[in-house]
Amino acid sequence: MTAHAPRPDQTRRLTSTVAGDGHVDIRIAEHDLTEPRPHEVIVRIKAAPINPSDLIVMLADAEPSSARTVAGEHGSALRLDIPGDALARSELRLGATVPVGNEGSGVVVAAGSSPEAQALLGATVAVLGGGTFAEHVRVPWRACMAFAPGTPARSVASAFVNPLTVLGMIDTMRAEGHTALVHTAAASNLGQMLVQVCVRDGIGLVNVVRRTEQAELLRSLGAEHVCVSSSATFSDDLVEAVAATGATIAFDAVGGDTTGQLLVAFERAARRTMGAYSPYGSEVHKQVYVYGLLDPGPVHVPREVGMAWGVGGWLLGPFLQRIGPDGLARLRDQVAAGIDTVFASRYAREVHLDDLLRPDVVEAMCRRATGDKYLLVTD
Ligand SMILES: NC(=O)c1ccc[n+]([C@@H]2O[C@H](COP(=O)([O-])OP(=O)(O)OC[C@H]3O[C@@H](n4cnc5c(N)ncnc54)[C@H](OP(=O)(O)O)[C@@H]3O)[C@@H](O)[C@H]2O)c1
Repeated sequence: MTAHAPRPDQTRRLTSTVAGDGHVDIRIAEHDLTEPRPHEVIVRIKAAPINPSDLIVMLADAEPSSARTVAGEHGSALRLDIPGDALARSELRLGATVPVGNEGSGVVVAAGSSPEAQALLGATVAVLGGGTFAEHVRVPWRACMAFAPGTPARSVASAFVNPLTVLGMIDTMRAEGHTALVHTAAASNLGQMLVQVCVRDGIGLVNVVRRTEQAELLRSLGAEHVCVSSSATFSDDLVEAVAATGATIAFDAVGGDTTGQLLVAFERAARRTMGAYSPYGSEVHKQVYVYGLLDPGPVHVPREVGMAWGVGGWLLGPFLQRIGPDGLARLRDQVAAGIDTVFASRYAREVHLDDLLRPDVVEAMCRRATGDKYLLVTD
């Protein structure tokens, strides 16, 4: 390890522990910061977005309104109750102390002996993984994306999860032979990036949002097709937009009944070009990937969709495994080139580590509303 890099022996980080009697405790704990191995670096975290996937790890599907402060042997904790059905999903983490935070940004303050790790010393980097709701993380150099000196850490805090998911959706669409796509919860941070990339690259995109204001927001970014699910004409609007773009694949952050509505729209649009009736519906393959869990209800697929369809889950992690290091490097270059434009993120509020133990802050974060994303900052 390089001698001139300052590295404290301990750091503070947010942890989450699920107890078998149905509650989760969130704490800020001291954590030993051991010397980086040859391929590792230590990053002083400056900023980390609080993404929906972080809330799942942090809260384990607990009821936000049950949040209260409890005193414990190691200082106070935020405690929330987990409903019985949700507790079963946490079976494999009962009693384990889990660090929270999938991504963030900061400065590399210590590096292992490998040339790649050493090259990052002093750099402003975005980091993937490692429990970033912390003052420091120790990660492999490959988990870092370096930016030019002077880049503000806040502006690159969300450089991994949402940008790579956007590029992953487009990559998956093309790899599976589709030419246009549908996206739900489309006014999300991620959805706004997708709109801008599709406009830039001339890709047909149908956006589904819940409210008219969100449609206006997306149109202001250049979106051509926006369907509002609360509108009386939603089903027809969706079929028209699908037919106009030729979309046959959807990335659905909502799930529940929405997944089936998308498949029905694909089928109705496909039937317009069917030469003859078939009891099995159109032969056009219709695909929906559920990639978010915004509606906790079961996915419902109506009979009307015919027989040529597929529903699956889509996660960034397995996608990155599939494309391998070279594929990831290609996508990272695209993210770095667009971090101030199509991949820029906006935050409604900045909070500090200690704020994450406040019931009112946690309850507010759980709204997951458009334009309401929180950024954790450490100074
Ligand atoms: N699978 C993966 O690998 C992966 C990777 C990255 C992100 N994601 C998912 O992508 C989604 C967007 O992430 P983000 O960080 O961009 O979120 P975000 O900026 O916090 O936005 C959340 C959006 O979800 C909408 N929403 C919330 N509850 C909803 C519901 N029940 N029905 C319909 N819309 C609802 C909100 O719209 P309103 O204003 O109408 O509430 C808001 O536009 C999340 O679900 C996240 O988990 C998945």
